[in-house]
Amino acid sequence: MDATRPKPTLPPGPKPLPVLGNNHSFVKDPLNFLQTLHQTYGPMATIYMTDTPSVVLFEPEHIHYVLAENPRNFTSAEFAQGLQEFTGHGLFNLDGDTHRQQRRLVQPAFHRKRVDSYADTMRQYTLEMLDSWKVGDQLALDQELQQLTMRIVAKCLFNVDLGLRNSNLGQAFTDILENQPRLLETILKLRIDLPFTDYGKRQRGKRIIDKVIYQLIAQRRQEGGDEGDFLSMLLATTEDGHGLSDTQIRDHIMTFVAAGHETSSNTLAWTFYLLGLAQNESKYATLYQELTSQLRGQAPSLGDLSKIPYTEWTINETLRLYPPAYLIGRRAREEFTLGEYTLSAGTFVLISKWVLHRRPDLWEAANEFRPERWRPENAKNIVPWSYIPFGAGPRMCIGMPFAQLEMRILLATMLQRFKFRIAPGFKMQTDPLITLRPKNGLQVILEPVS
Ligand code: HEM
Repeated sequence: MDATRPKPTLPPGPKPLPVLGNNHSFVKDPLNFLQTLHQTYGPMATIYMTDTPSVVLFEPEHIHYVLAENPRNFTSAEFAQGLQEFTGHGLFNLDGDTHRQQRRLVQPAFHRKRVDSYADTMRQYTLEMLDSWKVGDQLALDQELQQLTMRIVAKCLFNVDLGLRNSNLGQAFTDILENQPRLLETILKLRIDLPFTDYGKRQRGKRIIDKVIYQLIAQRRQEGGDEGDFLSMLLATTEDGHGLSDTQIRDHIMTFVAAGHETSSNTLAWTFYLLGLAQNESKYATLYQELTSQLRGQAPSLGDLSKIPYTEWTINETLRLYPPAYLIGRRAREEFTLGEYTLSAGTFVLISKWVLHRRPDLWEAANEFRPERWRPENAKNIVPWSYIPFGAGPRMCIGMPFAQLEMRILLATMLQRFKFRIAPGFKMQTDPLITLRPKNGLQVILEPVS
């Protein structure tokens, strides 16, 4: 043994309870727990969710090291075990060479030109949703947005229209999405397939969707041709003369469904919430002014997006305050050194975007909603790696161009049709499941635009 090598050490952290470790504090209020860890222990802290220690990182350069500088030393798939029942061997559930190879294969489906071709679907479905509403309606906006982004993603992925609501397939997706594994279910690995359990409801949804997807794959393989959707791209993709199997295609499609609509719909729900707060009235006014002067009541086309930068900054700012993937997990393959600590192989690493994006020493008025901070002259002062809503490195969100396009089109189209007033007495709260959802949804009342 090399006597000069430093012995593995762990950063400080809260005392774990026997058996429970630190799970009780984490499950009770994850966001507050993470903030307190940073306030108490500084750059990193050790917690116990299992027998193996988890080191939570809060420093931009440490986070960069794990995600982008030395990503080969860190695996990720075991953090997506909860999703695996739905996503099989999609990107979330792969590591190492297999992940790199599969990512290369599916990448063409996310090329800018291909993604841009979905702008019309995004616009059209948003307009149809808006046409079904009228001034004075009170809505659960989070659910409407979820239906809309699901409808968009189903059309873009496999060219099926779920309709405005209540299709069998739509219900199957809802079954899966509304019964996401709770933290406790994930930690305790509860799997009880009964009609009334969350797991059972997800399984029922999955069986319906699987049937449809496999039928579509068989039909497309027979008929050939490019329908302009992700499925066509995945069927056409090959490496060394080998294409993807039916199961691989199904798993990739399901991964894009799982990753690709709740994240966008939740971000939009938080955006409407932030814009609806009395203290952000001037931000709403600036955004509305930009939209009406540039778009004059029309839903934006692809070419219009460069004319509405404040819309983009507004979304950037929501993603700072409410990053949907608020915690990223990795596990070290081999011993590694971060700051003054040498951490053993096998250690879990957790990256807290919730804390990083709100650190008062990195962000001026960190808790305030200020889209202006994304103006290029201001954005150049942002500390590198202090903002990573889409992650970083080789596992960075592959769907980012899709999400950015979709969120801008939906926001710009919706805000020109109605003013969204938060229902009186309604309180928005965070609900950190796998992604950062608004707890109790978002109740709004539709008002005419001025
Ligand atoms: C606001 C919207 C979105 C946010 C904030 C977001 C965020 C993220 C983040 C942070 C990661 C990296 C996780 C990690 O490093 O472990 C990720 C990965 C991923 N995202 Fe997104 N995402 C969004 C939308 C989408 C969309 C629309 C799609 C697909 C249509 C998508 C597909 C994926 C996939 C497949 C991965 C796994 C990539 C890999 O492991 O190589 N995401 N996303």
